[in-house]
Amino acid sequence: MANTNHEHEHGSDGKHEHHPHHWESAEYVAGWAKGQDPKEINRTEAFQALADTIPYEKNLPIKILDLGAGYGALTKFLLERFPQATAVCQDGSEEMAKLGRERMKNFAGRFEYALCDFSKHGWSKLLAAPFEAVVSSIAIHNVRSPNIIRGIYEDAYALVKPGGCFLNFDRPRPPWEEQMMWLRGVGFKNVQIFRQEENRAVFGGFKD
Ligand SMILES: C[S@@+](CC[C@H](N)C(=O)[O-])C[C@H]1O[C@@H](n2cnc3c(N)ncnc32)[C@H](O)[C@@H]1O
Repeated sequence: MANTNHEHEHGSDGKHEHHPHHWESAEYVAGWAKGQDPKEINRTEAFQALADTIPYEKNLPIKILDLGAGYGALTKFLLERFPQATAVCQDGSEEMAKLGRERMKNFAGRFEYALCDFSKHGWSKLLAAPFEAVVSSIAIHNVRSPNIIRGIYEDAYALVKPGGCFLNFDRPRPPWEEQMMWLRGVGFKNVQIFRQEENRAVFGGFKD
């Protein structure tokens, strides 16, 4: 996986700062997770909105694919709400996968990691499709290239089972309206924003 992902934040002077991510580094991943832990509470409502948008009864044995799953915060949330579901956690970072296997050990047997880089052509061929729900949280914006993100959405459409959905909780980079246009373009229906926060939204669509 490219290690040139960047996070944009507002510095104290209000200007954008660019912090390179190093998802391949054990130390960086441990530090990121430590910083993220106290903030997890701030994602509960968005994760709940995403869970409630998945168009299946909670007791069904659906298959979920979490793109850029990291240590599995969203996967864990969904496996709790859908107690018969199983999940594939896709990520490009072996270190994130190690942390996720550890953090989700209570769900052993209900999830597995698939290590691949979603910015590289052919990544989706490695995954055991179809999935009732393809989801993602704060990951796809890392790619930055509009063309590659559009390609990821094309692959996501192929991975979703008819009747299923693709739901992304992410920053407006590129702008949500643009990303939703690409989602419509690759075939998703009823594409919309399901929950919007200041700088993050749950958006996506469904496959007929
Ligand atoms: C900000 S973390 C979010 C992790 C998790 N989804 C969450 O919400 O806690 C971004 C994740 O995307 C993964 N990632 C970034 N670029 C990727 C790529 N090109 N292919 C696969 N995974 C990638 C990173 O390894 C990292 O685990």
